[in-house]
This record gives sequence, C-alpha cells and structure tokens, in this order.
Amino acid sequence: MWSYSLILLALLGVSSAIPQPKISALRRPGWRPHRRQLPFDSTDTSSSSPTVLAPKDNIWNSLSNDEAADVIAFLHSKNDLNLTAQEDAGSWDNTIMVVDLLPPNKTDALNYFDGDGDKPERWAIASLLFGATEEPYAQDWVVGPIPTTENSTYYPYTFGTHAHEAKIRSYDMDGH
Ligand SMILES: *[C@@H]1O[C@H](CO)[C@@H](O)[C@H](O)[C@H]1NC(C)=O
Ligand SMILES: *[C@@H]1O[C@H](CO)[C@@H](O)[C@H](O)[C@H]1NC(C)=O
Ligand SMILES: *[C@@H]1O[C@H](CO)[C@@H](O)[C@H](O)[C@H]1NC(C)=O
Repeated sequence: MWSYSLILLALLGVSSAIPQPKISALRRPGWRPHRRQLPFDSTDTSSSSPTVLAPKDNIWNSLSNDEAADVIAFLHSKNDLNLTAQEDAGSWDNTIMVVDLLPPNKTDALNYFDGDGDKPERWAIASLLFGATEEPYAQDWVVGPIPTTENSTYYPYTFGTHAHEAKIRSYDMDGH
C-alpha cells in the first residue's frame, strides 16, 4: 500500500515534503492500488498502449492481479494440496500465504535480450502453509506457465536450495 502511494505521488510529481494530511487523504479507506493502471507495470499490452517503446518486454514485471488470481485458483483446484481459502482458514488449514513472480532463469533471460530467444514463460512461486498436518510447515511451490492451462504444472521449489525439499517447520501455528 505504502509503496504504491509513494509511486503515485512520484507520478503526480508531488514532492515527498508533502504534509501528512494530504497523504492520508490519498489513502482514504477503500482505495486500492490497481497495478495495471501504472504504465510501467503492465503485462497486458493488448488492451492498453505502452507509454514507453522498449525493444523487448520487461520480463521482471511482478504478477498482475489477474495472474495472481489465476495462480491462486489453479492451486485451489488441486485436491492434493487441500487448500482452504485464506479468508475461511484457521491455523490448522492449508493456505496460500504469498504468490510472487518466479524470475526467469538467467540463460532464458539472456537468450531473450541478447539473442533470438523466445520471451521466457511467466512462472510464479507460491508460499504455502501446510497447517492441516501433525507437523505444520511452510513450503514454496513453483507454478506455471501462466496463464495456467491444462498443461501447467506445480511442484515444490528446490533448485534454489540444496535441500531435497525446502520445508520449513512452523512451530508457532497459534501465534499468527
Ligand atoms: C484437509 O484440510 C482439512 C482442514 O482444512 C483437514 O481437516 C483434513 O484432514 C485435510 N485432509 C487431508 C487429506 O489432508
Ligand atoms: C530454471 O532452472 C531450473 C534449474 O535448472 C529448472 O529446474 C527450472 O525448471 C527452470 N525454470 C524455468 C521457469 O524454466
Ligand atoms: C497441452 O499439451 C498438449 C500436448 O503437448 C498440446 O497438444 C495442447 O495443445 C496443450 N494445451 C494447451 C492449452 O496449451
């Protein structure tokens, strides 16, 4: 919320020396950042005209709201994950905590920017909390490609770590 407000202020050319009350006025209740209205954070170039013409797309754009919703719906459709929607969930359910862009692998990115490589696929990383088990744990899962289709897959994230499966025991299930 804060960072988007600051970005908006920057876009409006308002200096950071603005008095507090004006900032709170901008952050009135019910105000929501709508990411895709920000010209530099758009992954959907079909419906809006880009303000800057770059020879290649920005492949590090964070997930749009639609992409995040797509990933969340996809994971919820997978019975083996036994996910409970965040708003209905208690401490002893499986839930999605965070969904984020999984940055493209370096070789794919370099092939795209320096060579004739295809634009890398969009993939997400989702932090899941498995609370519906004797020994609750958090684990990151890879999901993609996005938009999800019948061919999209999901599997525990391991290639950034040396662990066989990167599970983190959660010892404080009642404390959050
Ligand atoms: C699925 O989660 C619920 C709690 O949300 C739990 O009661 C149930 O045992 C879980 N089922 C499996 C197969 O893990
Ligand atoms: C990135 O590289 C890792 C390790 O080589 C591979 O397992 C993974 O599938 C790649 N990710 C994507 C999105 O291609
Ligand atoms: C899924 O993969 C199959 C086999 O490669 C392909 O024929 C099909 O078109 C793919 N479906 C989608 C929605 O991409």
